[in-house]
Amino acid sequence: MFELGQARFTATVLKLGKRRNADPGAFAGRAGQDGGFDVVLTSNVYHLLTSTAREDFAAAVVALTRPGGLAFLSTLSPRDPQHYAKGDAVPGEERSWFQHCYLHFCTEEELRADFAPLEVVDLEERSYEERHADDRVHHHTSWFLEARRPG
Ligand SMILES: C[S@@+](CC[C@H](N)C(=O)[O-])C[C@H]1O[C@@H](n2cnc3c(N)ncnc32)[C@H](O)[C@@H]1O
Repeated sequence: MFELGQARFTATVLKLGKRRNADPGAFAGRAGQDGGFDVVLTSNVYHLLTSTAREDFAAAVVALTRPGGLAFLSTLSPRDPQHYAKGDAVPGEERSWFQHCYLHFCTEEELRADFAPLEVVDLEERSYEERHADDRVHHHTSWFLEARRPG
């Protein structure tokens, strides 16, 4: 799925995830509709979501991917040198900080568990530089997950 309006896409995904979590059977047998996408791509949004929203989001990614289809996700890792452990630790939550915004840093085990209905095809950590509009360069380390929905 390619959707340029990131906020609209994320809002749709969260709404679908809430429905999916409220009624786990809601998407069963509807692969041609909600789960009909060959590819679902979500880039650098997951780390911005709180735990309930991550649960809804992950459920929606699974639900939107057709059986046999692929989901791709990138999200900041705890080895991110730019943002990890910066700002105020979020009380009661591991690996979550609030500086300019809320950020959560998933471990490999956490990602595998969060997207457990999918079969992991590839999961690796990569470091890269991100140049901002004002020419500042951010140094990041993120997870890149490629996973297939069984079926
Ligand atoms: C780091 S940017 C990534 C943008 C793009 N996906 C990319 O990879 O270049 C995070 C995006 O997530 C959006 N976003 C963050 N939290 C959101 C939420 N709860 N609902 C909707 N959009 C959200 C932000 O507006 C922003 O566009």
